[in-house]
Amino acid sequence: MNILSTILLLGTAVQAVPNSPLPRRSLNTTASDRLGLQWMGNDTSLPKVLVLFTGGTISSGSTYSALDTTEYGQISITGEEIIARDPLLQTVAQLAVSNWTLDDGNSTGTSDALVMNMTRFAHDALCSPDSDITGAIFTHGTNSLEETAFLMDLLVNCGKPIVGVGAMRPYTALSFDGDANFFESVALAASPEARDRGVLVAFSDRILSGFWVTKLDSTHPDAFHQTTNGGDLGAFLNMRPYFFNSPSRPTPKHDLNISLVSSHPSYPALPQVDILYAARQFDARLAFNSLANGASGIVIAGTGNGGIPNGSDMIAEAVEKGLQVVVGTRSPYGTASPQPDQTWAKSGYVHVIQSRIMLQLAIASGYNQNQTIELFEGTIRKAIHPFGL
Ligand SMILES: *[C@@H]1O[C@H](CO)[C@@H](O)[C@H](O)[C@H]1NC(C)=O
Ligand SMILES: *[C@@H]1O[C@H](CO)[C@@H](O)[C@H](O)[C@H]1NC(C)=O
Ligand SMILES: *[C@@H]1O[C@H](CO)[C@@H](O)[C@H](O)[C@H]1NC(C)=O
Ligand SMILES: *[C@@H]1O[C@H](CO)[C@@H](O)[C@H](O)[C@H]1NC(C)=O
Ligand SMILES: *[C@@H]1O[C@H](CO)[C@@H](O)[C@H](O)[C@H]1NC(C)=O
Ligand SMILES: *[C@@H]1O[C@H](CO)[C@@H](O)[C@H](O)[C@H]1NC(C)=O
Ligand SMILES: *[C@@H]1O[C@H](CO)[C@@H](O)[C@H](O)[C@H]1NC(C)=O
Ligand SMILES: *[C@@H]1O[C@H](CO)[C@@H](O)[C@H](O)[C@H]1NC(C)=O
Repeated sequence: MNILSTILLLGTAVQAVPNSPLPRRSLNTTASDRLGLQWMGNDTSLPKVLVLFTGGTISSGSTYSALDTTEYGQISITGEEIIARDPLLQTVAQLAVSNWTLDDGNSTGTSDALVMNMTRFAHDALCSPDSDITGAIFTHGTNSLEETAFLMDLLVNCGKPIVGVGAMRPYTALSFDGDANFFESVALAASPEARDRGVLVAFSDRILSGFWVTKLDSTHPDAFHQTTNGGDLGAFLNMRPYFFNSPSRPTPKHDLNISLVSSHPSYPALPQVDILYAARQFDARLAFNSLANGASGIVIAGTGNGGIPNGSDMIAEAVEKGLQVVVGTRSPYGTASPQPDQTWAKSGYVHVIQSRIMLQLAIASGYNQNQTIELFEGTIRKAIHPFGL
């Protein structure tokens, strides 16, 4: 019997006693009550979509001009104000805001600690047995949207949709894209079709995979016009989601246990993992710098299929000293595939930015270097029967 039905039964028992005043206790029968969420919207038959607000360009404005799309940030609006701009939102969902902004007055910043706290909150709100919430969206700066999407995709897996959203133009600009993106993210999180697809991103009429998404253009409104693998999952028509295929799951995706990550005594936030970018005359001594600066791991953006142009012996030495190493590719598409005689992991089709997060979560979950190799390379080794391994 779950908590909810126990409480309902208790409620019935109390009501059965005639003429006795009901004790006025506020039993928190739902996650919303327990977490103090305040739902907006007068139609209680609509699904509840939680708005995790971290800021981003979607809440930033310019005092210079409606033509300013690059120097904005002098003024900002809240999550509640974004919602208030669009009464049509209340026709698709009930909404409640939860704020996740760094307290430094510079609201677009996120950090590992902040994003982990938000992810724990989202896991609790969506995946607890008392959850009354259909799905969630998170507003985010587009520069690191893919990092948060990937992290939440590995850690929150109870089938409910979580949708990342942002804007490329500030709300003061001509043709602000944030209102449409925001509406589409809410419509997506409220849709039963979005279940069991992991974290999604709604951007510029596209439905994208949170696992494979990457920002490919630094300033264009269609900044997420491709993914590193698999293409768009669907499109928005009349602002409503249309999926091209039934649900699927990225082959290299591993669900990691958020309790294990959260309970690691050494990493209240996440372990430090640096990214090193390889090029001709790559100075592999940088790995030792990382180690000396407290990093638990590094990800190398290797050349081509995960090449280290110079100093691979030093990388092997850093592994022996306890640094966990993953080598990916600096190419925008393709893989860094397993090779014989290497003591580091190759990232496969998981790109460098995402590999950093996967390595952080692996280390926080207690993986050693060999287990990290299995985590990153396992599905490829199994599929391709490599010759020298
Ligand atoms: C219900 O949740 C609210 C808000 O989090 C809290 O203040 C209150 O103490 C809780 N009540 C019970 C009975 O747990
Ligand atoms: C909700 O409020 C809007 C605008 O105030 C109104 O048009 C609509 O009929 C209301 N819906 C319900 C279910 O009460
Ligand atoms: C979120 O933060 C904004 C700005 O500080 C504030 O106006 C709003 O009330 C907060 N919302 C919640 C639910 O705490
Ligand atoms: C915000 O960032 C600016 C520029 O980086 C810095 O000067 C300012 O001190 C920051 N504000 C706060 C409150 O940290
Ligand atoms: C994350 O949550 C912990 C525990 O509640 C808190 O101590 C810490 O300040 C939070 N960090 C951030 C960046 O919000
Ligand atoms: C996750 O880890 C916690 C704490 O170790 C454990 O109790 C729980 O069973 C684990 N969950 C799964 C799905 O493995
Ligand atoms: C390789 O890196 C070392 C330092 O780690 C440097 O001294 C050497 O010049 C580099 N060699 C080439 C060919 O780039
Ligand atoms: C890791 O794997 C290698 C190769 O299979 C093995 O030689 C080594 O002992 C393993 N290390 C640990 C810590 O298990």
